[in-house]
Amino acid sequence: MKGKSQFVCQNCGAIYPKWMGQCNHCGEWNTLEEQIIEKNIKGRHGTINSATGEQPVSLSTIKPETHQRVSTNISELDRVLGGGLMPGSAILIGGEPGIGKSTLLLQLILKNHRWKSLYVAGEESLAQIKDRADRLGNIHENCFITPQRQVEEICQLIHNETYDLVVIDSIQTVHSNQLESIPGTISQIRESAYQLINQAKSKNTPLVLVGHITKIGNIAGPKVLEHLVDTVLQFEGDSNSGLRILRTTKNRFGNTAEIGIFEMQNTGLVEITNPTEFLLTPHSEQFSGTAFALINEGLRPLVVEVQALVSNSGYSTPQRTSNGYDPKRLNMLLAVLEKRAGLKLSTRDVFVNVTGGLKVTDTAADMAIAAAIIGSYLDIAISSQTCFAGEIGLSGEIRPMRNLSSRIEEANRLGFNYIITAPSKKINPQFSYIPVNDIRNLVTLISKS
Ligand code: TYD
Ligand code: MG
Repeated sequence: MKGKSQFVCQNCGAIYPKWMGQCNHCGEWNTLEEQIIEKNIKGRHGTINSATGEQPVSLSTIKPETHQRVSTNISELDRVLGGGLMPGSAILIGGEPGIGKSTLLLQLILKNHRWKSLYVAGEESLAQIKDRADRLGNIHENCFITPQRQVEEICQLIHNETYDLVVIDSIQTVHSNQLESIPGTISQIRESAYQLINQAKSKNTPLVLVGHITKIGNIAGPKVLEHLVDTVLQFEGDSNSGLRILRTTKNRFGNTAEIGIFEMQNTGLVEITNPTEFLLTPHSEQFSGTAFALINEGLRPLVVEVQALVSNSGYSTPQRTSNGYDPKRLNMLLAVLEKRAGLKLSTRDVFVNVTGGLKVTDTAADMAIAAAIIGSYLDIAISSQTCFAGEIGLSGEIRPMRNLSSRIEEANRLGFNYIITAPSKKINPQFSYIPVNDIRNLVTLISKS
């Protein structure tokens, strides 16, 4: 017997018995979502039942949870989880199709022989998963797999057996028989995730939900799922390169902005523990328009190569293309270079590329991007012994970065002789660096090199 449902506007909260395209109350379009009407809600009114724990407790009397993190045996995954898997935690992993989410999770299961794991396969047939497991190797008898897609049945499986890990691949394929809407709709995703998380938490079982991302890069049913889970991971990479980045965007149990780096190979994902050496391609000759950026991704300093090409535009509206660097920030940088440093870029096409397929989020990359653009504009090659770290502001000023000492230490370790960055008193005096405070001075420095 299905529960009765109603339609709630996600914008203003108005309730309707039927779905409509537009909310009559607030006028927003496509904001109505199906929800189950709660049945027999007892104890909401009247006397307080202290036996059910409804009495508030003093914060000082609450004991801290003493959960021990469990290592996943994949150190890059441990890193993004904040040091390992938390018992009873719910993790959402999002990413484009084909990026390697299923591979990563199957590898996690196969690497941990002692864990009794349940893999709920909604996307692929069991034979396809067996094929992949054969390719990855290490098949063991503690890995259980089911094609079940109905959430109530899956919850029953989690209830009946004590698993060390449950993977739902993917949350968009499971559905609840309490709702009439088809699998993959927001109400189905929310209801299914809610039931699964509650069930897994009641058994203290870690749960991983795979979520597809929409065209604009959000996990489908975005905010709904992000609120329900403890940790949100994003798996990304460039389809042309094997580089894969696992990024934490929310973590109740650790740092966000942490990244794990992998390479997709024939036998699955391989951890990259020394990313800079993986990202840098050795050049015998240096060309104009390349520069090295000393950035921080998460807590880890990295050096990446950035390239820029500035050419005369054949169009009235010049082209700006950016790969691996925020296109809006590129537009800002170009405007700053034009206005504050006098580079005539408004009639030029500008192409920017971060090599290796990494998407740079650290604003310390600004200076290297600007240096590559200046180098290409002036047709001057910047020495490959030099790297840059600094955020550029709207008035052309170069701002000092956080964790500068650890960045410089990494650059020294990699053999860079010149580190060009904002002046800072915090830099350890044993490190040599070239302070530059302004984008005009950066142009002068490059034009003299
Ligand atoms: P998959 O894990 O299915 O991606 P997702 O679950 O995110 O959709 O990854 C599929 C891709 O990875 C596919 O293009 C094949 C490739 N791959 C390898 O290169 N090596 C391997 O060992 C495996 C298992 C997959
Ligand atoms: Mg998959």
